[in-house]
Amino acid sequence: MPLLALILGASALGAALPGGGVAALGIAPSSVSVPPITACSEINKRRIIITRTSIGIQGAVTTKNWRNTQWATSLLDPMYRLSSSYRPTNLVAITWRGVISPKGGYLLKREAAEALSAMFAEAKLSNIQLKILSAYRSYSTQVRVFAGWVAKSGLQQARKYSAVPGHSEHQLGTTVDLGSLTGVAWSNPKFPTSPTALWLEANAYKFGFIRSYPAGAANIALSCYGAEAWHWRFVGKGLAYEIVCSAQVPRIFLWNRQNGAERVIAPSCDLLTPPEGYVLPSPSPTPPASETPSETPSDSPSAPPTESPSESPTETPVTPP
Ligand code: DAL
Ligand code: ZN
Repeated sequence: MPLLALILGASALGAALPGGGVAALGIAPSSVSVPPITACSEINKRRIIITRTSIGIQGAVTTKNWRNTQWATSLLDPMYRLSSSYRPTNLVAITWRGVISPKGGYLLKREAAEALSAMFAEAKLSNIQLKILSAYRSYSTQVRVFAGWVAKSGLQQARKYSAVPGHSEHQLGTTVDLGSLTGVAWSNPKFPTSPTALWLEANAYKFGFIRSYPAGAANIALSCYGAEAWHWRFVGKGLAYEIVCSAQVPRIFLWNRQNGAERVIAPSCDLLTPPEGYVLPSPSPTPPASETPSETPSDSPSAPPTESPSESPTETPVTPP
């Protein structure tokens, strides 16, 4: 298989180091017994196994929340994966300017596409012109993307920021890479502090999007990938609010949620805007009262919906990881 051959050709496989279930990294109340999540430092030592027809991470398992109805809470990291045949339902096409169009473009689940479209419109009011750089990626598309990064920087470097096929949130059909139509490119080191990235940090949760891979060494150690200011996952407004409100890395939040942990409400939660009608559950056992929150773009790709737009932004020849 040529793509796997490409990966093989570009890689120097690391030594096999079986990782055990190691550190307890989740932030959970002591009253709830949450099993420890395996540390990224251990998972990332695991060998990537490449055969003529498949690629996988040693010891990886199918994520518990893999069904189509569980897309918002499925945990994907270098340990937990989707099956190669998983394809989300309800995909619609959206242009790279964020307009849902039957004529083709990037693919996203309808809920995510509609929320994204609304976010593009709101951003525009603040003079932020967003553009889509990547959206739904099938397993086979992720094979190509991962192989491209391996070819560029080698296997061990690539796995730090590009998901091995099956492990990418892009396969959920709810995740997008976003850049600026007019400003700094996503690949520019200044992108994370650009007006576009800062606007997304402050506002994306209001539309149901969360940043999966936040900056900072501690966060990177918990999310298992390098910081990505462009990678936004749609989980719906309520859950996005709860995740941002917790100030937890999404991977840790989802692990704790799956294991029945109580909500964590960080002090910064007071500064956030809850979704309409949302009532923040009181933390137990004695909540302080203060913690209860009271254009039509002209581009029109002619091809049927595909995973990639028929018209690509010209200044971004490389798909973000
Ligand atoms: N860059 C993220 C980890 C992905 O490849 O899905
Ligand atoms: Zn991404």
